[in-house]
Amino acid sequence: MSAYSVKERLADYAEMTEEALEKYIPEMDCLQRRVIDAARYSLSAGGKRIRPALVMEFCRVCGGDPETALPVACAIEMMHTFSLIHDDLPCMDDDDMRRGKPSCHKAFDEATAVLAGDALAIAPFRVIADAALHKLLDKDAALKIIALLGELSGFFGMIGGQMIDLENEHKQPSMEVILEMYRMKTGALLEFCCRAGCIAAGTGAAEQLAAGSYGQRLGLAFQIVDDILDVTADEKTLGKPVGSDAADGKYTYVSAVGLENAREKARQLTEQALEQLSGFADNEFLVDLTNELLDRQC
Ligand code: IPE
Ligand code: IPE
Ligand code: MG
Ligand code: MG
Ligand code: MG
Repeated sequence: MSAYSVKERLADYAEMTEEALEKYIPEMDCLQRRVIDAARYSLSAGGKRIRPALVMEFCRVCGGDPETALPVACAIEMMHTFSLIHDDLPCMDDDDMRRGKPSCHKAFDEATAVLAGDALAIAPFRVIADAALHKLLDKDAALKIIALLGELSGFFGMIGGQMIDLENEHKQPSMEVILEMYRMKTGALLEFCCRAGCIAAGTGAAEQLAAGSYGQRLGLAFQIVDDILDVTADEKTLGKPVGSDAADGKYTYVSAVGLENAREKARQLTEQALEQLSGFADNEFLVDLTNELLDRQC
């Protein structure tokens, strides 16, 4: 690809994703319209669309066509949006704003938000399987990606991490537990994006291993920066409440070591993530994106 800015390429990937998501979840006049509207509401509310970009970019740097990975990019954005809808519920973080708009349960109601989240956790598996059935994605690759998504979003990934998060409210977990929680609740889906992009491109195990290590390290840095922003950002820029972690009694990396040490740890993890990219040709966008995520304001 020619000269670009991270912003421009991110915007291109976001546009591809949003157009495709529109097709997967179109406006529909049907009896169950409310749950579809709620899912569309949260999916179309914006967000940085980092995960779809990682899926398509890893596919590209591994020699594939980013379009091949587009169904997987949409699938992970659905899974991520499900995690956000449920994360905001009163029984979890109880946050009223998300992506600059009222959270799903505020714009609709709790039961609808639970169902919209459920549907967005199930749809990804159909989207990837359908892509294989329609020959947009190699069947073997699709099978591997489906298994990986199940692993990294479920008990041993995002959901597992959310459980650890909730069980440690009003406690002071050890640094080991904090990092394991971050690896699972945030790192796992980012690891999925990077590995799935490689699988869609049909690359070998070595690339997938490096991409996975990159995703894990990026994920830890990403969650630490998220925790920093919960303390330092302004709500309008962030698009979600600030001070939510303290209000919920969450003991984060920032509570454990302070803002400056947390910033330093995020920098170190970013460096370690960047080291994993050295084996990928044409990796400038990934390098720039990784650096920009460290300095992000939302
Ligand atoms: C928020 O993720 C939840 C975390 C894992 C920290 P993002 O910061 O990627 O949220 P959006 O998609 O941009 O809204
Ligand atoms: C997010 O952790 C992890 C998810 C799986 C959604 P947070 O609870 O810190 O995310 P935000 O700050 O609400 O986006
Ligand atoms: Mg949470
Ligand atoms: Mg939250
Ligand atoms: Mg947070």
